[in-house]
Amino acid sequence: MKADVTDRKLAPEGKRRILWADADMPVLQLVRERFAKDKPLKGIRMGCCLHVTAETANLMRTLQAGGADVALCASNPLSTQDDVAASLVKDFGIPVFARKGENVATFYKHLNAVLDRRPNLTMDDGADLVNLLHTKRTAEARNIIASLEETTTGVIRLRAMAQHGILKFPVIAVNDAATKHLFDNRYGTGQSTIDGVIRATDMLLAGKRVVVVGFGMCGRGVAARARGLGAQVTITEVSPLRALEAVMEGYDVRPMADACRSGDLFVTVTGNKHVLRDEHFRRMKDGAVVCNSGHFDVEIDIPALRKLARKVHRQVRRNVDEFQMRDGRRIYLLAEGRLVNLAAAEGHPASVMDMSFATQALASSYARKQNGRLQVGVHGVPREIEDWVAELKLKAMDVRIDRLSPEQQRYLASSSEGT
Ligand code: ADE
Repeated sequence: MKADVTDRKLAPEGKRRILWADADMPVLQLVRERFAKDKPLKGIRMGCCLHVTAETANLMRTLQAGGADVALCASNPLSTQDDVAASLVKDFGIPVFARKGENVATFYKHLNAVLDRRPNLTMDDGADLVNLLHTKRTAEARNIIASLEETTTGVIRLRAMAQHGILKFPVIAVNDAATKHLFDNRYGTGQSTIDGVIRATDMLLAGKRVVVVGFGMCGRGVAARARGLGAQVTITEVSPLRALEAVMEGYDVRPMADACRSGDLFVTVTGNKHVLRDEHFRRMKDGAVVCNSGHFDVEIDIPALRKLARKVHRQVRRNVDEFQMRDGRRIYLLAEGRLVNLAAAEGHPASVMDMSFATQALASSYARKQNGRLQVGVHGVPREIEDWVAELKLKAMDVRIDRLSPEQQRYLASSSEGT
């Protein structure tokens, strides 16, 4: 089988990790069982560009069980778990094109290798396959029934493309499903980002000033977990509404021009570029640590940091680069400014990816079932899928909830019952 991974001999460890993660993905397991029976993706060629992790491996197994012919490449050059990639190829017969630390040319070669298999359904985490199908491989866009998008950054891009009238096929914004962003973005990013920072630096967070740049779902998660570990948390925002929410949550809110002076740790989670830049690096304290948990590595202006530095020591510790300023201050950059939670840790825990990936799998089946009826544009995940995933997750957690009585249902449906 054609594939490109770092070392197929790593497969046994990868398989152990895939099965360990699977044990914490009960909803995805159920979907897999159902898919194995019903084969909703039979005859479909799926091209997937996701972080190549143990959790993603279990999604790939599910799509395969549903009858899809699946191929996978990485959605980030640093997030690939090489043992998992090896196991997917060797133990599960899934073509994977991903090597941890691959350069940009190889990253694109791998995206193209997936598209060379002529998929008719694509799944992205950051819209990279869709982007190629709209720029370099436009003739192939007509083969695509639909595409599924996993992350906020990707959805923002796709919405912009739809608005400009250039989107060529229907897209399902899986990120926007409640069963995805309310949990994965908040609790997943919150925990895995702090995990990445600690693995990279071994920093004690208690008593530190942590500046979280952006108070979207991911920012909320990071802020809450940093606060839980005893840090004093500052939020920077551009949205008045989000800033107000942060204030009322009890966070210190201020502009970055001010916050940059006092932070011990900066975490960017905005989806925008250069939210930490020259003017901020100039004011940071000696020893400040900067990292990113947003999708692309553009949030920290690394070229500006490099320009300001007298010396750069790569890898003073694994995943830590030291930038020595001309005035002697040192600034530490984690994971080259790429997703710190996936590059320095293992990404979100399986239990939360369970919901995201069960939603992905069911949305794939839904897209297929629509059989060309979906209009070109960005679509939500049907409510029944969200409800089903939430119900199954609660059941797996052994949590029971109340049901409306017939009288309560009538009350809610009525416009006349009042005082
Ligand atoms: N995104 C964040 N965490 C992830 C994980 N564990 N697997 C796949 N994608 C992710």
